Amino acid sequence: MNRLTVHTAVPYEVFVGGGAIGELGPRFQALFPGARAFVAADENALALHGTAVLASLRGAGVTAFSYALPAGEAHKNHETLLKLYAAMAERALTRLDALVALGGGVTGDVAGFAAATYMRGIPCAMVPTTLLSMADSSIGGKTAVNLPYGKNLVGAFSQPRLVLCDTDFIKTLPPREYRAGFAEVIKCAAIADEEAFSRLERGDMSDDEAVFMALTVKRALVESDERDMGQRRLLNFGHTVGHAVENAAGYALLHGEAVAIGMAAMAKIGERLGVTEGGTAQRLSALLQKYGLPVEYGGDRQRVYESLAYDKKTEGAEVDAVLLQKIGKAVRRRLPRKEIVL
Ligand SMILES: NC(=O)c1ccc[n+]([C@@H]2O[C@H](COP(=O)([O-])OP(=O)(O)OC[C@H]3O[C@@H](n4cnc5c(N)ncnc54)[C@H](O)[C@@H]3O)[C@@H](O)[C@H]2O)c1
Ligand SMILES: [Zn+2]
Repeated sequence: MNRLTVHTAVPYEVFVGGGAIGELGPRFQALFPGARAFVAADENALALHGTAVLASLRGAGVTAFSYALPAGEAHKNHETLLKLYAAMAERALTRLDALVALGGGVTGDVAGFAAATYMRGIPCAMVPTTLLSMADSSIGGKTAVNLPYGKNLVGAFSQPRLVLCDTDFIKTLPPREYRAGFAEVIKCAAIADEEAFSRLERGDMSDDEAVFMALTVKRALVESDERDMGQRRLLNFGHTVGHAVENAAGYALLHGEAVAIGMAAMAKIGERLGVTEGGTAQRLSALLQKYGLPVEYGGDRQRVYESLAYDKKTEGAEVDAVLLQKIGKAVRRRLPRKEIVL
């Protein structure tokens, strides 16, 4: 099993590997002695892996109970959040207890926000169950719910206290979700690790290695900029357009698919502006397509453009864009919104 430490204000450990769930109970007990575990779980992840999670906790003597959250981005909202708060209150959860978020990025974001705000904040452990959430959303402390106006518009920075990526959980993912998760893996290689990008091109990287590589890239950026004011924004490569595409498509596309379209678009825009080395867009698109990801948006492009106005990174008529200089090196540039064409 691999492990790494994220050095934020309160540092936390991340475990990556098949069977990592066995570590949950003992680690939880050591970090939060006497705490009860409230497992807020994606309904599908709970059905598939809930037994193993609860067994790990209870085996270490932790009192644990679970609560199922409805699956899907459409439920990443206040309705789900208010029901979750109510379930936590009914269990008389206090700051001496801890929440375990079991599921993909949607669960991590909603349950993480509930933990950040319930009683002004209780500890949270992340047990991601999708490739995307293992490689990306489980670390960094961004939690949020969506508003009808756009994604992640209400949220908080709140770092988890423990993260456990059991890569065996990836095996039960629907193939489309698995492929979408690779978008964030490819993103991390594209912005910061040329060698990893080449290995992905050669098909020479295991899922465990892919998750670990992506977390290593993200960790460095989170540590240098916990509040997302500068360097960390490089992780938004493909996301400004990606979020707008998600909005315009009415969430018919998965987050990773929308980000793939966004990355392909930004690479082309970068080449047109002379920032990105020639041939980069072609290489990036080829790798995305190798993983079965879309590189063009088939829907109404005008709606994507309109959605850009609601993105948190859009300030007035300008966009805080991330461009590649080349594979493995990203830079931030302020661009007029009109430059963002799909
Ligand atoms: N906080 C962050 O830093 C951050 C970063 C990236 C993405 N995100 C957010 O993450 C979300 C996307 O996350 P996601 O792609 O994990 O989607 P998701 O949470 O919706 O999960 C995808 C689907 O897989 C199912 N599922 C989960 N684990 C499974 C398993 N092991 N086996 C079978 N099915 C399983 C879920 O029920 C769901 O239907 C978006 O809302 C995005 O905004 C957050
Ligand atoms: Zn993302």
